[in-house]
Amino acid sequence: MAQLARLTQRPWQQTPEDWEIRAELEAGLTAQDAVISPKYLYDPLGSKLFEAICELPEYYPTRTEAEIFAAHAGDIAAAVGAGVTLIDLGAGNCAKAARLFPALKPRQYVPIDISAEFLHQAADGLRQAFPEIPVNEVAMDFSSSLELPATVNRDRRLFFYPGSSLGNFDPGQALDFLRRMRQALQIGEAGGVLLGLDLVKDARVLDAAYDDALGVTAAFNLNMLNHVNRLIGADFNARDWRHLGFYNAARQRVEMHLEARRDLIVRWDGARRTFRQGERIHTENSHKFTPEDILSLLEQAGFGEARMWFDPQRWFAVCHARAR
Ligand code: AVJ
Repeated sequence: MAQLARLTQRPWQQTPEDWEIRAELEAGLTAQDAVISPKYLYDPLGSKLFEAICELPEYYPTRTEAEIFAAHAGDIAAAVGAGVTLIDLGAGNCAKAARLFPALKPRQYVPIDISAEFLHQAADGLRQAFPEIPVNEVAMDFSSSLELPATVNRDRRLFFYPGSSLGNFDPGQALDFLRRMRQALQIGEAGGVLLGLDLVKDARVLDAAYDDALGVTAAFNLNMLNHVNRLIGADFNARDWRHLGFYNAARQRVEMHLEARRDLIVRWDGARRTFRQGERIHTENSHKFTPEDILSLLEQAGFGEARMWFDPQRWFAVCHARAR
């Protein structure tokens, strides 16, 4: 987000996206129940903290998903088909997709991420490691639009959306997003989706995964405040806030919040928001799914021939489905 980090220092260089970001953040911060979109978790440090989370003993999703891909690579590749344009939504360090290259042999790889600097670095690394695969990275916020540049092949597209990132959306938004993917796939071509989705399980396992002993998830959540400070020139002090991460069984989702440790005022150009001690900013939802939930979502979004692969504990699912 290099271009966004400049925003407060060089207002004359503000782009339309900068204004959208400012408007979105201000609306969230001034809402009755304050919210910050989870996409702001990912500045350069946030992306690194997320990588660290994936190494934690409590955070099972990344590891479990990798086990499923490793155990069923042949089956998955057979279901996906040969020579796809692999479009990696929220690619981050691109490591997950790169591990699929030997089995999938994609015709083109299109990593997409909002964290531009991190993305370009990762894409450069991949071009070196896989000179035979064209890599065309796109730095954009795919949550607002899936319109892709002309450099991206139109046929045989496979949207790769691993890590249960679909769970960041509310169920209705998740359906809309899947429908947008479906729209971006050519009719009559072997287009599809390859999703990694976290499954409903014991609340103790979920609570530990999102509130780890080392406090890495806490740092990840709190770092968002520093990022927002840079984006809109706010004066959040991370020391004034406490991380909360817990499973809300009624809503079938893990929630992350930041809770004010004392009464305080946050200011940013001309505006302000008071928070009472204990008041929260909702920073992320991570919905958990049953296999039935997944099939129903895909069906409603216009996908068929769904296939699912699980780990032995059935903690996580990898799912492929075809546009129909
Ligand atoms: C990247 C959205 C899938 O919800 O598990 C990890 C982000 N948040 N720890 C998730 C996250 C807290 C992660 N996703």
